Amino acid sequence: MTYDWCRWQQAAETALYGEEGFYRRPEGPAGHFRTSVHASPLFATAVARLLAGTARELGTDSVDLVDVGAGRGELLTGVLAALRDEALAPGLTVRARAVELAPRPPGLDPAVEWHAELPRGVRGLLFANEWLDNVPTDVAEADADGVPRYVLVRTADGAERLGDPVTGADARWLSRWWPLARPGDRAEIGRPRDEAWARAVASLAAGTAVAVDYAHVRASRPPFGTLTGFREGREVPPVPDGSCDLTSHVALDACAAAADGTAELLDQRTALRELGISGERPPLAQASADPAGYVRALASAGQAAELTARGGLGDFGWLRHRVPEREEGYCPA
Ligand SMILES: C[S@@+](CC[C@H](N)C(=O)[O-])C[C@H]1O[C@@H](n2cnc3c(N)ncnc32)[C@H](O)[C@@H]1O
Repeated sequence: MTYDWCRWQQAAETALYGEEGFYRRPEGPAGHFRTSVHASPLFATAVARLLAGTARELGTDSVDLVDVGAGRGELLTGVLAALRDEALAPGLTVRARAVELAPRPPGLDPAVEWHAELPRGVRGLLFANEWLDNVPTDVAEADADGVPRYVLVRTADGAERLGDPVTGADARWLSRWWPLARPGDRAEIGRPRDEAWARAVASLAAGTAVAVDYAHVRASRPPFGTLTGFREGREVPPVPDGSCDLTSHVALDACAAAADGTAELLDQRTALRELGISGERPPLAQASADPAGYVRALASAGQAAELTARGGLGDFGWLRHRVPEREEGYCPA
């Protein structure tokens, strides 16, 4: 057992992505929690429709689909299947590209490219489902005098104590996006997420970028932050020892301001409804006219209801950036 104390960003970086890190494990994220991607194939159908719409806006029949934080490639696999099944984009050629720190899983459709870094010059749709919540951040807490200090964590057991006052760019981020009002208030300093999102959006030459996560905005930040752990489907105390996921909700309004393009923040319920996914039940009359179709439609309505539920997945934030054709010579930083 080690008794090292360090700031949360460094601790989480090692615990999640180090050599023995949680996300290096063979079972992948799906072994520990269920995202919208795993909840229903309807989610991939919605992304396929969004991709087709993006291609129409770009006036092309050949687009990129980049999935950032792709897990084991489940979403890309689902979108390619939806495009095959649905006649929603006949003639559309899709270059499916996963961006993921974990290695390519065996058996993945060879049509899916696997990248460790963001590709550049992407034309099409960049999608990031539950990626930003796993971008490690430091945590700040206001001390007894109300001074925001970095929270230090002991990697072996998750014990915490306060460290130095927060200064510089982190202090500026806190005062702009998440001021700590009272002693004991805590915040996750979302600057690394803003920067990660800005880089992702900058990788688009043209198209749409979407980040989906549990989110909050300045007017309603949780006073004590939301950092927590997950293991085998259960919420657990956040211990940065590689044994569990470490996640916190995302200040998506700050991410929106950090990236270029036109940003729009909406909830998953609204976003999916716009893409034709709603929890509406099929008409009862269908039960006798087409029993098999009725049962299928009913199951689909149940899945859509889960994806759009209040108090559940429907409350996720969707941050959408539209990136118009970049000027010639544009070079992402
Ligand atoms: C919560 S999982 C989400 C997986 C998938 N998007 C889903 O919705 O089921 C987050 C994933 O992001 C990956 N990840 C985190 N930071 C990354 C980075 N900088 N580049 C690529 N992948 C990253 C992790 O390895 C992990 O597989």
